[in-house]
Amino acid sequence: MRLRGIIISILAAMLVVLAVTIAKDNTASAPNAPLTNQSNNTPKTTQASFDKHHYSTTDPSSIWVVVNKQHPLNPKTYTPATLVVPKIPARSNITGDESLVSSVMAPALEQMATAAKKDGITLTLQSGYRSYNFQLNLYNLYVKNDGQTQADQESARPGYSEHQTGLAADLGGVTNPSCNVAQCFINTPEGKWLAANAYHYGFIIRYTTAEQPVTGYEDEPWHVRYIGTDLSQEMHKEGITTLEEFFGVTGGTTYAN
Ligand code: DAL
Ligand code: ZN
Repeated sequence: MRLRGIIISILAAMLVVLAVTIAKDNTASAPNAPLTNQSNNTPKTTQASFDKHHYSTTDPSSIWVVVNKQHPLNPKTYTPATLVVPKIPARSNITGDESLVSSVMAPALEQMATAAKKDGITLTLQSGYRSYNFQLNLYNLYVKNDGQTQADQESARPGYSEHQTGLAADLGGVTNPSCNVAQCFINTPEGKWLAANAYHYGFIIRYTTAEQPVTGYEDEPWHVRYIGTDLSQEMHKEGITTLEEFFGVTGGTTYAN
């Protein structure tokens, strides 16, 4: 009888361990894994390796969504659930759409702008969210002014822009306003601060000269994409600068369709 008792105890303990393991797995792969309450404070020392599947790379509401010429938003007319006006300075003539960002990104953007301010740097919002129709008009304007080949180096077609997720922003500065959303931004104090510090706050500079064949766009030192600090710090640690390379997702300069 004693032996039976011991065996039953051992089996019960094994069941508990199994249940805990299954519960943990389910949390990690939940389709609606939290976007607003990310585990940015997870101690890295206890993680065996970075979980590249923690968030979706295809769901347009996911902070890890990869949007490029091969991967449009699904659906192409996607609209973020909650858009807010972030509490950071914005250019004076900013329009309705562009003054908004996803509520998921806003706190990080505000935190980054506050930190920059402490370093004597003023970051300004030049363009945040862009709806499908806004992007359609913008892209058509580029085509009209520069021709389609050049337009495709600089502006995404509607349904293919990170701006439509609300998780991207074009940032400018005040020291040299003529460099806002221009190549010389990279040489301004604001551009330098952004390049050096964005990853601390969950952002990457999405388009760089070196990575043009991967991202499909010319250098945009002003365009930041929110991905959360877990990922931005991991990419920084690994020295990987594009989402395509980090996640092994196709990109490039040609459109899927
Ligand atoms: N300028 C970037 C690529 C966009 O239009 O989304
Ligand atoms: Zn942009």
